[in-house]
Amino acid sequence: MYVSASLLSADFGNLKNEIINVEKAGADMLHIDVMDGHYVPNLTFGPCVMDAICKHSTIPLDVHLMVEDVEKFVDLFLPYKPKFISFHPETTYHPHRLCEYIRKNGSHPAIVLNPHIDVNTLKYILPSVDMVLLMSVNPGFGGQSFISSTLQKVKELRKMIDDNGYKIFIQIDGGVNGLNASDLELAGVDIAVAGSYIFGSNDYAVAIQSLKKDFMNE
Ligand code: DX5
Ligand code: ZN
Repeated sequence: MYVSASLLSADFGNLKNEIINVEKAGADMLHIDVMDGHYVPNLTFGPCVMDAICKHSTIPLDVHLMVEDVEKFVDLFLPYKPKFISFHPETTYHPHRLCEYIRKNGSHPAIVLNPHIDVNTLKYILPSVDMVLLMSVNPGFGGQSFISSTLQKVKELRKMIDDNGYKIFIQIDGGVNGLNASDLELAGVDIAVAGSYIFGSNDYAVAIQSLKKDFMNE
């Protein structure tokens, strides 16, 4: 699996070094959790912090929008040229139109499903996305426990994608650690988001390596 390191769990007082260190440790992307205090009960990154992040990061950015009025936030974050922009479909009347807009403006669109949402709801949007992010915790906070039913969802989504011959990444977000990583990879996850597991460890490289382990041994 590729690893997208969630900066939500980084030491914000030492953000520059956290970015440098996690990149050196082998992170493939930086996951940016954007929260507005409305869609989720937490507030995080805005353009000022993004300017600071972009000064020091050299790997692709993976922006996860957890906000109401999501179109406005897409326009705020597109200038940072993130590789992916992920949004929750219930935060817009027009998810399909927003996917096209994100793609037209140079990022890869991704849809996020909260833990209770069936993957079959994706049938008609799948051809328009490059990634599906399955939430394995309720959005809003780092450091929560993995919701185990998500594993079955990964398997169902993997089958939907493969049966249709789509090229779509499956990303998982929430409670990912060295213990559940290989089950997730076996079930079909391509990109693991990890925050507290990496930034809470003593050695970021060891933590990241333990998520990539099976991928590396293939
Ligand atoms: C939660 C965020 C996650 C969070 C994951 O709403 O979307 O990206 O940072 O944190 P961990 O890996 O600690 O569960
Ligand atoms: Zn996230």
